[in-house]
Amino acid sequence: MTAEPVLTVEDLTVVYETEEPITAVKHADLTLHRGEILGLAGESGCGKTTLAYAVNRLHRPPARIASGRIIFHGDQGDIDILALEDAGLRAFRWERLSMVFQGAMNALNPVTTVRAQLKDTLLAHRPRMSRKEIRERSEDVLTRVGVDPRRLGSYPHELSGGMRQRVMIAMAMLLEPQIMIMDEPTTALDVVVQRDILREIVRLRDELDFAVIFITHDLPLLLEISDRIAVMLEGEIVELEAADRLYRDAQHPYTRKLLGSFPSLSGERGAFIRTGIDETSADEISETAEERA
Ligand SMILES: Nc1ncnc2c1ncn2[C@@H]1O[C@H](COP(=O)(O)OP(=O)(O)O)[C@@H](O)[C@H]1O
Ligand SMILES: [Mg+2]
Repeated sequence: MTAEPVLTVEDLTVVYETEEPITAVKHADLTLHRGEILGLAGESGCGKTTLAYAVNRLHRPPARIASGRIIFHGDQGDIDILALEDAGLRAFRWERLSMVFQGAMNALNPVTTVRAQLKDTLLAHRPRMSRKEIRERSEDVLTRVGVDPRRLGSYPHELSGGMRQRVMIAMAMLLEPQIMIMDEPTTALDVVVQRDILREIVRLRDELDFAVIFITHDLPLLLEISDRIAVMLEGEIVELEAADRLYRDAQHPYTRKLLGSFPSLSGERGAFIRTGIDETSADEISETAEERA
């Protein structure tokens, strides 16, 4: 990780223009560095998903961006995400920035195989890719997220929840974006599968050096995997700090309250992932059991 920014969010405000307008994101500032895992924490309803959608330009009415700038700092210069036209936006998504949605594991198309879904995404962006290249890339991303490439022929209902979520992460990695936004990617999964997938995400980041915005209300989990953590409260980012610093020396009263509300948060930061590594075989057994279920 370097301190070079890959994404800058400035003064972002998002309003739901409902009968009683709701300002879900209020003048948010955020910088994402190349290759870092930035955790976005905060309780349900504080605006995390709204912020993620806006960064992806996926917000739809009644949501409206009332202020702000979102800049992607690419190798070929800056891209003003809010100014992108449709074609530019289509090229941008998945290629530069991809998203794993909240509840994504249920978002796979039920009537097509994993192979077809990966292929469609690849061809939409790289129409000249050969069959062989498509096969190789598809096998490669599945292997990277820990799914046997023989699963390419499977339909979503033939996969466990954990595997479906891994496929979604594979899909998000497919075009080698510099940024992946993951919105509660493991919340619906049991703890062991969750830990396994998290470890995978950290490892992939180490290997491939993409940046991640990892969203969850689960602060202990973020403390384990994040380089820095942003804490959101009622639409505002109230604190943004290195994870260990935040753990030791939170400045904002709300962050301290949040830290205090997790009794499990005792002991050394980092235990979660390390414990996981020692329990690899247990994880494998559990994943297999889940597969059979
Ligand atoms: N489509 C919508 N229309 C109106 N209000 C919405 C809509 N989606 C979310 N909100 C409101 O915006 C606020 C932030 O929601 P959200 O971004 O989903 O929070 P989080 O992801 O942190 O749980 C909440 O008050 C929520 O009720
Ligand atoms: Mg959400």
